Amino acid sequence: MRTRRIESSPRAASPSLVSAATSPPALDAAGSRRGFLGSSLAAGAALFVTPTIIRAENRADKLRVAVIGCGGRGGGNLDSVMGEQIVAVCDVNEKTLRAAGQKAPGAKGWIDFRELYDDLKPSAYDAVVVSTTEHTHAFATLPALLNKKHVYCEKPLTHNVREARVITEAAQRAGVATQMGTQIHAEANYRRVVELVKGGAIGTVNEVHCWVGRAWGLQSPEDAQKYGDIVAVQDRPVGSTPIPEGLAWDLWLGPAPARPFHEVYWPGPKWYRWWDFGSGTMSDLGSHWIDLPFWALDLDAPKTIEAFGPPPHLELAPASMHVRYEYGSRGARAPLSLTWYQGKDKPQAWEEATIPRWDSGCLFVGTEGSLLADYGKHLLLFGPDVRDFKRPAESIPPSIGHHAEWVQACKTGTPTTCPFGYSGPLTEANHLGNVAYRSGKKLEWDAAAMKIPNAPEAEKFLTREYRQGWEFDRIT
Ligand SMILES: NC(=O)c1ccc[n+]([C@@H]2O[C@H](COP(=O)([O-])OP(=O)(O)OC[C@H]3O[C@@H](n4cnc5c(N)ncnc54)[C@H](O)[C@@H]3O)[C@@H](O)[C@H]2O)c1
Repeated sequence: MRTRRIESSPRAASPSLVSAATSPPALDAAGSRRGFLGSSLAAGAALFVTPTIIRAENRADKLRVAVIGCGGRGGGNLDSVMGEQIVAVCDVNEKTLRAAGQKAPGAKGWIDFRELYDDLKPSAYDAVVVSTTEHTHAFATLPALLNKKHVYCEKPLTHNVREARVITEAAQRAGVATQMGTQIHAEANYRRVVELVKGGAIGTVNEVHCWVGRAWGLQSPEDAQKYGDIVAVQDRPVGSTPIPEGLAWDLWLGPAPARPFHEVYWPGPKWYRWWDFGSGTMSDLGSHWIDLPFWALDLDAPKTIEAFGPPPHLELAPASMHVRYEYGSRGARAPLSLTWYQGKDKPQAWEEATIPRWDSGCLFVGTEGSLLADYGKHLLLFGPDVRDFKRPAESIPPSIGHHAEWVQACKTGTPTTCPFGYSGPLTEANHLGNVAYRSGKKLEWDAAAMKIPNAPEAEKFLTREYRQGWEFDRIT
């Protein structure tokens, strides 16, 4: 492709965080019925009795938020809603729970979110933030939706296709404010790309290629070292390593098949590669990257899905693979193909260096030109005959911030930009890439019926087997 570069835009400033409460923590006295920290930690645990200074504050305008999963990404999410009233915190790791309690004095704490939902009266909270491992997202989210509470849930929304459908429909029935944690969506660059694509700057788009440079997952120890993977693992370990102090391992496992603790699983992002806990790079980074063509091209359910990669492993997601989605024509919109690449797999134009070889990117190929984007910048690539391109006026208003958008939506009913009605189908599409990969079949997808008519044997990957006592259908 002969190209003329037109322009790029700088990364927008990250949305600012609301300020954290600064009151000193009070000592725990009564605790909840089940004891949020358990008796072993009660003495000196610096949490959970509302200090006088907070009680005296007028918090009528504050959202009462329960935060489930407070470490890793959950720590950032907690910080982002600290301007509201944090009434409950929950984490399976006591150390993390303590730290969350110190940030949010006045909150009550639990290590088991099922008990949080049993103990906390629906009248005592308005909203829930979920940042646990992927395999417990649906379990931590659904009770809130059934209680008609607003939910912010990290990406990917759920662990599998069926859970995504259940959560999407429950959110629709609840009519509450929802947002999936794809915060890149709130930044300026994605907005400008969407305006260009929707405005026809590159004509009719019939191909999209999204690739990410991260090569984490099942690969040789040499490749794991070469690509900076955080762990090199080829199979489920036979032995175990000591459970980190304070971690309730059985609760962490939740609905997943039981096994002894081993450091190859924990913490994130190590667990992302195990099918029992996560969905590999496809659903993890696909949540952010495929978000862009989903938005720009109004995508939803693909017609067919086909994956290309190494032979599938029963338990581990691959480091490298690619997946081709075909979308049929939708109303006035032309059919198109979207290809996802992870790890060593790259689009042909990247391999041939006819486009800049960005580490990760999204290439929209249209009848009039191409557009290359990543999280923070974009580049229009036109043939030599296009000379007088004029950027369209900005039509998508700036976001007030991904979390702030959700908080405002909870309070006033304004829309969010990644509600579950949008992010549920996005999550389904990403998971379908894994279903195609794991089944080794080109899938014809009947989205309405949630069936794969040409390969019914692949339908087992739309859901999973739940550990006894954790059956998902019991809470749906
Ligand atoms: N939006 C982003 O850019 C972004 C970045 C990183 C991670 N994430 C997402 O955030 C989620 C968490 O990822 P992470 O890397 O922070 O994982 P992590 O393992 O580092 O942290 C998860 C936290 O949740 C707690 N937790 C786990 N299971 C729990 C349970 N059943 N109940 C209560 N607490 C539980 C853990 O103890 C830990 O504090 C994932 O869905 C991941 O994809 C999003």
